[in-house]
Amino acid sequence: MKMNSTKTAVVTGASGGIGRASAEALARAGFTVFGTSRKASNGPDGVTMLVCDVTDGEAVAALVSTVLSKTGRIDLLVNNAGIGMLGGAEEFSMAQVQALFDVNLFGVIRMTNAVLPSMRQQGEGRIVNIGSILGLVPAPYSAHYSAVKHALEGYSESLDHEVRAFNIRVSVIEPGFVRTVFDQNGIEPDSLLKEYDQARAGFKALLADVMPKADRPEMVADAVVKAATDARPRRRYTVGKAARQVSLLRRFAPAELFDKTLRKQFRLPV
Ligand SMILES: NC(=O)c1ccc[n+]([C@@H]2O[C@H](COP(=O)([O-])OP(=O)(O)OC[C@H]3O[C@@H](n4cnc5c(N)ncnc54)[C@H](OP(=O)(O)O)[C@@H]3O)[C@@H](O)[C@H]2O)c1
Repeated sequence: MKMNSTKTAVVTGASGGIGRASAEALARAGFTVFGTSRKASNGPDGVTMLVCDVTDGEAVAALVSTVLSKTGRIDLLVNNAGIGMLGGAEEFSMAQVQALFDVNLFGVIRMTNAVLPSMRQQGEGRIVNIGSILGLVPAPYSAHYSAVKHALEGYSESLDHEVRAFNIRVSVIEPGFVRTVFDQNGIEPDSLLKEYDQARAGFKALLADVMPKADRPEMVADAVVKAATDARPRRRYTVGKAARQVSLLRRFAPAELFDKTLRKQFRLPV
């Protein structure tokens, strides 16, 4: 993609964490950046914040039309808005599972469908979706989150095949653990089952262990800028040493060994 000051980017969920760092990095890289939040907020330097809930189709349409009325084009959409959900799969109600998919997958699809017509018309565009290493490796106590991030991988790769004819490319960023307030913003199970108490203590201990040493959001933001500006964007950008190791092990280690290593990490009997 040619880089000049007229390139416009929209970053969903730019009020904090990875979205804020990405919006800031894109502004530094010369994009005119619009960030979104569900509530009125101040963005980082050079980022105009707009209110939008990605679960609301009318709000999404209004957001895209506001940006187009200001700049005439959207060159880059970063689908970052997302929530977490950690716990035993059967502890969450269907309403909770649907709420997760409504933000993390259907929100991406709503935003994407809203920007594609103008991208096709202008004959170029980039869509960068924030996935997760859990979109490559299903882990225990994140069944629904792993499912939604796997779905995002499938959606993104299919879409990339379809829209390449219009000079539009789709990439997925795959971070490991990142130091944000994501774990505190997640959906808590509707019904805590005592049968999972020990497992819960195990994965909470794992989180407490890894989160303070987790990657910085700026590392993910660097990958977003690369996906937005690389002359030949990759379909996937894995971020951080841990995520790269897991991704390699998943592809090349024997399945049994991988299974045992993962269970050990989650303090599960092997
Ligand atoms: N942190 C990690 O370890 C990690 C690892 C891999 C992937 N990820 C992915 O990275 C993305 C960002 O996560 P983060 O760690 O930066 O979390 P975060 O700090 O909790 O930020 C989440 C952002 O999403 C926005 N959001 C939530 N629900 C929304 C909705 N319905 N409509 C619009 N915006 C909404 C929030 O905005 P408001 O609350 O202001 O509306 C906030 O800006 C997510 O897609 C997540 O799955 C995170």
